[in-house]
Amino acid sequence: MRNRLVVANWKMNGSLASNEAWIKEYATLTKSQDVEVAVCAPFVYLPQMRTQINEATLPIALGAENCSAYAVGAYTGEVSCSMLSDIGCQWVIVGHSERRQLFGETDQDVAKKVKLAMEAGLKPIVCVGETLEEQEAGNTVEVVCRQLNAVLDAVGASALAENGAIAYEPVWAIGTGKTATPQQAELVHAVLRDSVESRDSVAGKKIRILYGGSVKPSNASDLFACNDIDGGLIGGAALNPREFHAIVCVAQSLTETVI
Ligand code: PGA
Repeated sequence: MRNRLVVANWKMNGSLASNEAWIKEYATLTKSQDVEVAVCAPFVYLPQMRTQINEATLPIALGAENCSAYAVGAYTGEVSCSMLSDIGCQWVIVGHSERRQLFGETDQDVAKKVKLAMEAGLKPIVCVGETLEEQEAGNTVEVVCRQLNAVLDAVGASALAENGAIAYEPVWAIGTGKTATPQQAELVHAVLRDSVESRDSVAGKKIRILYGGSVKPSNASDLFACNDIDGGLIGGAALNPREFHAIVCVAQSLTETVI
């Protein structure tokens, strides 16, 4: 039984004041849950978030939204995986479609980042997903498998299953209000799981595959109820602690149903 995982991706949002307000409000809503929860915040706010999560004793792991593809040295403006680990991050989002599309990240860059993240003791959330054009051309499976295989070739299926997760985020569903139907999402999740399973059957059963793309409290239960969907990567709805908490509660209630 895979433990569900719900991850907030704040993107380039937040301020010292609004982050503090978010933590304070979230703390009034929850103290414990069985599902795993992480918040990925902009680099500069990670120390603040770590302190406030600890002070409020919240069951939230800390994550970054990106990391460098280099380990150390003369790379002005970059933030390394070991630095993220040093300040208390446990997770890092790698290969988000906004990084691939706006900042030219390639499958090889993503693979390098995932490898470095693991070497630094961080758990990477490897994002894959097709654009609208790719979907309309019928290339969804080819694209997401190519993106995933680059990572599996670099680190192996077993290591990713043990120490990371995959997020399927159709680009056309991110921030658009258009969500993949549970059937559409499940189909791609099953293909991704098969890809991992074809390399290592234990890893295939173990790896957590999150869905991302306009997840809201109202659509989370249909998505999370699918066999191969183990939780969500939440953007817009995670900026509001009540909405994010409601999504965590959906994952929690499905976990309780199974138990
Ligand atoms: P969204 O973003 O929930 O706002 O669509 C998800 C993501 O980009 O991770």
